[in-house]
Amino acid sequence: MTKFVCQQCGYETTGWLGRCPNCQSWGSLIETIVSENQKSKSKNQKERRDIEVVELKKIREEGLRRIPSGIGELDNVLGGGIVSGQAILLAGEPGIGKSTLLLQLADKIYSKSSKKTVIYISGEESKNQIKLRAKRLKIDEAGIFLIEETDVDAIIQAIGSRPVGNSNESKNLVPNHLLPSASLVIVDSIQTLTTQDLTGTAGSIGQVRECANRLIEVCKKASIPLFLVGHVTKEGGVAGPKILEHMVDTVLWFEGDRSQALRILRAVKNRFGPTDEVGIFSMTDEGLVVVNNPSELFLSHINNVSGSVPTVILEGTRPVMVEVQSLVVPTKLPFPRHTVTGIDSRRLEMLLAVLSGRAGVNLGAYDVFVNAVGGINVREPGADLAIALSLVSACLNKPLPSNTVAFGEIGLLGEVRSVSQETRRLKEARKLGFRNIISGNSVKRVGEAIKRYLR
Ligand code: TYD
Ligand code: MG
Repeated sequence: MTKFVCQQCGYETTGWLGRCPNCQSWGSLIETIVSENQKSKSKNQKERRDIEVVELKKIREEGLRRIPSGIGELDNVLGGGIVSGQAILLAGEPGIGKSTLLLQLADKIYSKSSKKTVIYISGEESKNQIKLRAKRLKIDEAGIFLIEETDVDAIIQAIGSRPVGNSNESKNLVPNHLLPSASLVIVDSIQTLTTQDLTGTAGSIGQVRECANRLIEVCKKASIPLFLVGHVTKEGGVAGPKILEHMVDTVLWFEGDRSQALRILRAVKNRFGPTDEVGIFSMTDEGLVVVNNPSELFLSHINNVSGSVPTVILEGTRPVMVEVQSLVVPTKLPFPRHTVTGIDSRRLEMLLAVLSGRAGVNLGAYDVFVNAVGGINVREPGADLAIALSLVSACLNKPLPSNTVAFGEIGLLGEVRSVSQETRRLKEARKLGFRNIISGNSVKRVGEAIKRYLR
C-alpha cells in the first residue's frame, strides 16, 4: 500500500499529482510506503516503549574498525580505510570509471580481507560485460560473486538467507548466507533497482530512496560495507533524491575529463574521516592506476614559450603543480571570444577586467584562450597571478624567465595576496626544479609583477 506525500508540506494523496494542491509546489509528491502498523494504530493507541537515555560521558568509546581497501588513494580519501557497515555513495558521470574502480576494489579487498567474498550487484551491465572488464583489468576473479538483478527484495533475499542447492551439488552455486560471510557489497547502480512495493519506475525518487534504504539497513545489520554507484544528472547533482546523500555515511565524487586520463576522487561528505583528501588516478588500458607524482601530469615541459606559466594549486591538502597556458590573438568578431579549459570562466573575466582597470593592459580587442594542462580543474584563486601573467605574456609574446612559477590571489584593486599553505606550495615547486618564485611575498600588485618580469 502506498501513498504520495508532498516533501514540502506533508500533504498526502493516493494518486500522483504534478503539483501539490496544498502548497502549490511542482513535482514534490513522492511515492511512499504506508506500513501496516501506521495504518492500523491511530495516534493515541500507539503502545509505549521504554527507551534508553544515556549521558554522553558514560558511553564507552569504540574505535572504528577499518578495512584497508588495498587501493592507497581510496583509503586516503576515506580517512584510512573502509569502516565496517559504512554506506558509501560513489557518484560520477557516465563513463568516468566508477564500475572500473569498484571492480578493482573488489579484487583487492578479496585478497586483503582474508579471502572473504565480495558481492557485486549489477543492474546495468550483464555478467558477460563484467567478465570482459575483469579480463581487461587482469584481476583474479575468485571470490567475486555477481548478481544480475534489479529487484531489490530478490537481491536482499539472495544475499541474505536463501539456502541454495544441497551439499552435494552446491560447488558451483552461491554459498548459503552469502551476506554474513561477505566483506563488501557493491551496487552498480542504485538508479536501476526497484521494489515492487512501489509503482514508480526505476530511478524515480521514491524507488531510489526505498531501495537504498533497504540495502543500507541490511548491510548495517550485518556490519558489511556497502558501495552504491550513483548517476549524475546534467545539472551535476546525484540523480534521484538529495536525500540519498543524507542516507549514506560517505559521498565520493569521481570526476575528470573523459577525453583525458586524469581522474580525481573526492570525498564531499564523510562521517568517518576528513573531506579534504583527494585521490588522483590515471585511466589506462589496464584500468585505474594511482598517480604518485601528479605534478608531472600537469606540466607540458615546453620551456621558454610565451603564455605558459606554471602555478601550484592545492588538491585537498596536496600541492600539485599545474601549467596555465594562454593564447591571445586579435579578434575578427564584434565580441571577442573568451574560451577556457579547466579554468573558471568568471574568474577569467574578472582577471581581464583587473588587468585593464588596474594594470593598464587592455585585451578587449583580442580573442583569449586559457587552458590548464592535463585535464585538471583549477578552481582556487591561488592560480590568479599565473593566469594574469600568462595572458600578458601571451599578448606581448614574451616568455617569463625560465624556471618561474607564480601563485597568488588577485583582488579587485589589482593587489596580489598570499595564499594558504604557502610553504607546502614552495616545497613542491622547488622539488620539481623551479627556483624563481613570484608570489604575494615578492610582488604587491599585479602591475608590478608585469613590469618586473614582462616589460
Ligand atoms: P566505466 O567503469 O564503465 O565507467 P562508469 O561505470 O563510470 O560508467 O569506464 C568506462 C570507460 O573507461 C570506458 O570508456 C573505457 C574506459 N576504460 C579504460 O580506459 N581502461 C580500462 O581498463 C577499462 C576497464 C575501462
Ligand atoms: Mg558503470
